[in-house]
Amino acid sequence: MSGLLLTGANGQVGWEVARRAKARGLTLHALARSTLDITDPDAVAQAVETLAPEVLVNAAAHTAVDRAEAEEDLALAINRDGPTHLAKACARVGIPLIHLSTDYVFDGTKTAPYGEDDPVAPLGAYGRTKLAGEEAIRAATDRHAILRTAWVHGVHGGNFVKTMLRVGKDRKELRVVDDQMGSPTFAGDLAEAILDLAPRLVAGSSGSEGYGTFHCAGMGATSWYGFAKTIFQIARPWYGPGPRVEAIPTSAYPTPAQRPANSILDGAKLARVHGIRLRPWTEALEAMLAELSNQTGEGSIP
Ligand SMILES: NC(=O)c1ccc[n+]([C@@H]2O[C@H](COP(=O)([O-])OP(=O)(O)OC[C@H]3O[C@@H](n4cnc5c(N)ncnc54)[C@H](OP(=O)(O)O)[C@@H]3O)[C@@H](O)[C@H]2O)c1
Repeated sequence: MSGLLLTGANGQVGWEVARRAKARGLTLHALARSTLDITDPDAVAQAVETLAPEVLVNAAAHTAVDRAEAEEDLALAINRDGPTHLAKACARVGIPLIHLSTDYVFDGTKTAPYGEDDPVAPLGAYGRTKLAGEEAIRAATDRHAILRTAWVHGVHGGNFVKTMLRVGKDRKELRVVDDQMGSPTFAGDLAEAILDLAPRLVAGSSGSEGYGTFHCAGMGATSWYGFAKTIFQIARPWYGPGPRVEAIPTSAYPTPAQRPANSILDGAKLARVHGIRLRPWTEALEAMLAELSNQTGEGSIP
């Protein structure tokens, strides 16, 4: 496969897709926000028509979960209108769209991992705007794969892993929420999954079953507290002992946006239909931290 158009190329996931697409020798048009603003329908149409890709991957989004509560209109423009323009442009030229969505479309009341067909009921503005994006894509083109992912971390960009390591340097103790469960996902693994999926969608390998909504997150689950403890355990050889991590309830750490208590994603459908499954989240975290430590040198966090 050649000819992949990537939007949001400077985000955590976009950056990983770009470098891994290059490593695979793909023809890549990687457009960051400064080159293509996905909320501009004319610019989107022009990019798709002139670059003539075989597949479009949208990694652009408004991802600031708490800020979205105060700027839902802006989040809607980026998370619903942008994907609408992209999906319509893809439909016009007859190419598939791979789009990323979120575990925060669920309200977290289910006690088991979420499947693709479980009822959605976002608790906050971010989840609402991402859900609106999913619906707009489904309405605009059948040739889409919406990959819902969760708790993303990577070496490029800001995320929970880097925040823990940064604040952990200055404190003896960190208090972290233990009653929200989810599936940490390494952006590099997600990018590899996207690049494995892309040629299958281009070729229509699995027929109509190959398109639709899929869950794509690290295998297994933990709480933010469990995630934090594991980060400091794995990082210990180059980071040092790290702080003591104390488990607290969500009620002790109020945030503008309410988050689901359980947003574990079941990845069975993506495995069954496309043979794609991400590795266990702890293994992926080891890989991310190994790369981070090589990149930053002993003990320093960007
Ligand atoms: N991060 C998570 O934990 C998480 C969890 C579940 C799902 N997801 C989903 O996974 C996808 C990738 O997330 P991520 O973590 O890579 O996010 P990210 O690091 O915040 O990257 C998003 C990128 O989108 C760009 N962008 C924002 N508005 C744009 C616009 N109007 N036009 C073009 N680009 C625009 C941003 O540019 P600037 O840098 O200039 O703002 C940024 O580079 C998103 O769809 C997100 O909803 C993420």
